[in-house]
Amino acid sequence: MKLFLDTASLADIRWASQAGLVDGITTNPTLLAKSAGDVDPNDVLKEICSLVDGPVSAEVVAVDADGMYREAKELAKIADNIVVKIPMIEEGLPVVRRLTTDGIKVNVTLAFSSVQCLIAAKAGATYVSPFLGRLDDVGQEGMEVIRETRLIFDNYDIETEILAASIRHPRHVAEAAMLGADVATMPTEVMKKLLLHPLTDRGLDQFLNDWSKLAARSKVNV
Ligand code: E4P
Repeated sequence: MKLFLDTASLADIRWASQAGLVDGITTNPTLLAKSAGDVDPNDVLKEICSLVDGPVSAEVVAVDADGMYREAKELAKIADNIVVKIPMIEEGLPVVRRLTTDGIKVNVTLAFSSVQCLIAAKAGATYVSPFLGRLDDVGQEGMEVIRETRLIFDNYDIETEILAASIRHPRHVAEAAMLGADVATMPTEVMKKLLLHPLTDRGLDQFLNDWSKLAARSKVNV
């Protein structure tokens, strides 16, 4: 499974990319508003695209078809690895089709059901992003959408990649991976948590302690 970082923070992206952990980036208007400060968001996106080899999702903010298409074309000019995010709304579907025909990759975002994912795929999306955490937040089972979508896509050999989004904790990543999501995108805190287990730290402390006892004993023996 590919791991994407869900952030517009350049510092976080540098960390993840130097650690060799990141296959791509997803941003959204909220994340850019948080990280860009006074900088033009397109400049931030340009910098992000230069830091990673993989796809970088950037979202349109228009909600009418012409506006979405225009914005998408501008975003696609930023770099070759830009993937345009289009929200899962009726007006967006012909835009997904047009952009795909133009050779621009699209990530259909804000998907909350398997049938929305199917529709996004039929429109030609390269990725579709079901939002797991936000479904869990309202008392629904986010992971069910991944399970159903994987089954549907496999039944019909649909190539659209399932991008598990709105990930809140490492268990989401493990479950999405077991169910066959192609990608999981997560905030930096979650990616850092993937590396950790308290028993790893405890085990290492014990090994190092025992080793220093041995080293101390051999000094005495000499
Ligand atoms: C995905 O592309 C979205 O940016 C993201 O996963 C949204 O997550 P949130 O629910 O934590 O805001």
